[in-house]
Amino acid sequence: MVFEKQSTRTRVSFEAGIHQMGGSSINLTRGDTQLGRGEPIEDVARVISRMVDLVMIRTYDQSIIERFADFSRVPVINGLTDQYHPCQILADIYTFIEHRHSIEGRTVAWIGDANNMCYTWLQAARLFGFKLHVSAPSGYGLDPERIAKGEEVHLSVFDDPMEAAHGAHLVTTDVWTSMGFEDETDERKKDFVDFQVDEEMMALADTDALFMHCLPAHRGEEVSAEVLEGHQSVVWDEAENRLHVQKALMEYLLLGYQSA
Ligand code: CP
Ligand code: NVA
Repeated sequence: MVFEKQSTRTRVSFEAGIHQMGGSSINLTRGDTQLGRGEPIEDVARVISRMVDLVMIRTYDQSIIERFADFSRVPVINGLTDQYHPCQILADIYTFIEHRHSIEGRTVAWIGDANNMCYTWLQAARLFGFKLHVSAPSGYGLDPERIAKGEEVHLSVFDDPMEAAHGAHLVTTDVWTSMGFEDETDERKKDFVDFQVDEEMMALADTDALFMHCLPAHRGEEVSAEVLEGHQSVVWDEAENRLHVQKALMEYLLLGYQSA
């Protein structure tokens, strides 16, 4: 496991899962390794992947993990990049299915920054056939270049977050400032002030709507304490499910199952 950014859930869930399945893990940060002294990622990939069975990387730009994967002999798992967070969305969808059966045909409202989580929800909407509503402050929305042709089948964009939440079966949000964007924190606090998921917003969603947040959460910013701790919130199940889905993912990658 290579962590170039901080982590609690990803680190603990992968490490616990690997140990529970009888494996062992090695945790590296950029500073621990020759990467920190400029060794090319392609060289590190060729070396590490001769010694281990799986690699998990949390890093900055998506191109870093893709360059690593291109030169790796073993599967490489994305543990979060600036652009995507697939392990989290696997856990989120599993959590939705656990509580509400199928996600197909349902509506998921994404409120806030169109960040790595938001783009991964969009990938999932394509695969699982649900509708994604996205509402972000001006200047923080989806990049049209990252939206595929015909995407409006499962994507609707709203200026007003209340409209995006209307009738949704799942309302979800994330921090206003993701890792790597800390210099923008003060400006973002002003720009996102109308984008808090609170009880008023949840009241507009479906009566059985769930609330999710990948965590860590900032109560009183992107979500009110009442919603985070409220009866519609499944954030603790969502965090626990990181462990279960990642164990399944690692088994799938190691054993090469083609179907369940
Ligand atoms: N949700 C999530 O990925 O948490 P960590 O940053 O703690 O790993
Ligand atoms: N969007 C957040 C997710 C943290 C798990 C970030 O990238 O910091």
